[in-house]
Amino acid sequence: MARILVTGGTGYIGSHTTVELMQQGYDVVIIDNLSNSTSAVLDGIAAIVGTRPAFEQVDCNDPQAVADVFTKYTDIQGVIHFAASKAVNESVEQPLKYYRNNLMSLITVLEQMKAHNVHNIVFSSSCTVYGQPAEEHLPVDETAPIQVALSPYGNTKQINEEIIRDEAHANTQLHATILRYFNPIGAHPSAMIGELPNGVPQNLLPFVTQTAIGLRKELKVFGDDYNTPDGSCIRDYIYVVDLAKAHVKAVERMLNRQATEQVEVFNLGTGRGLSVLEILKTFMQVTGVNVPYQIVGRREGDIEQVWAKPDKANNVLGWKADTPIEDVLLSAWRWEQKIRS
Ligand code: WQD
Repeated sequence: MARILVTGGTGYIGSHTTVELMQQGYDVVIIDNLSNSTSAVLDGIAAIVGTRPAFEQVDCNDPQAVADVFTKYTDIQGVIHFAASKAVNESVEQPLKYYRNNLMSLITVLEQMKAHNVHNIVFSSSCTVYGQPAEEHLPVDETAPIQVALSPYGNTKQINEEIIRDEAHANTQLHATILRYFNPIGAHPSAMIGELPNGVPQNLLPFVTQTAIGLRKELKVFGDDYNTPDGSCIRDYIYVVDLAKAHVKAVERMLNRQATEQVEVFNLGTGRGLSVLEILKTFMQVTGVNVPYQIVGRREGDIEQVWAKPDKANNVLGWKADTPIEDVLLSAWRWEQKIRS
């Protein structure tokens, strides 16, 4: 069976994707510099799958180290590139770190792929490239206009997509699938892997679960004066396991040479928008746990509302994110209880 190189594979989405790849019979080698994850994640993957994925502690900004991986694992037939810095507000404070890491890691991976005759890459992108879609573009499909990025993080995703397109134009052997994630949440049903935010969580759900378990005093809801039904922001929250499965579909499509274009783009969302307050109230309902919260002012850089039109991924990838939100929120809660036990 083919081997897939998963960069950033001990991270949140990378680890869940590795599980799904291995359970579909793919061999996996993970490279990760462990700057934002720990090798204990490999034990979690092994506990689910039954075998441990190959792992090399490598920084994707180190061309020789990446080259050595391709030399060692000569059966690599595709790459899924997750490795990147991903904290939106940190990117505002440290733009140079983000541009160096997120751009150079992709460039290095693409260079080493070419040098080692590997021509299939799945790239982890984000709906943040759409900014705040205009009303006529909601729900947002892949033809919605790319808007000026609101953060260096978002800009690195846009530039990465352009790098991939330009390289594909120059190198006709390259096939790329760009996956634009909406808001990944939840944890594997086994509670063996999940989200491990560093420090104070920036994202909504880990902050909710840490408040529910008593680690945080209260959740701050950043604004209830938006032009939405309950005034809080709307997002498309997608179960991380459903998201992981989309990556397997994307790999299969490329390895089976079913891709109709050199570069294909898919929005990965549920197609359903939920507000912050809806998420919060549903979480409290399904867990029976009260989550103290306070409505505060808006967070700089937040967009008001975005959710996906996932028809292309549904019809072309043959993939659908259909896990009920109640089960997703419960999976996050079980994971929080597990890591605090
Ligand atoms: C969701 C909603 C907040 C925390 C970002 C990136 C995206 C991806 C996911 C990396 C917003 C509100 C949040 C809190 C709150 N990043 N919120 N209190 O900003 O939609 O997306 O993270 O992969 O690319 O853009 O996600 O979870 O931070 O916020 O009220 O303590 O929850 O205001 O409306 P976001 P988020």
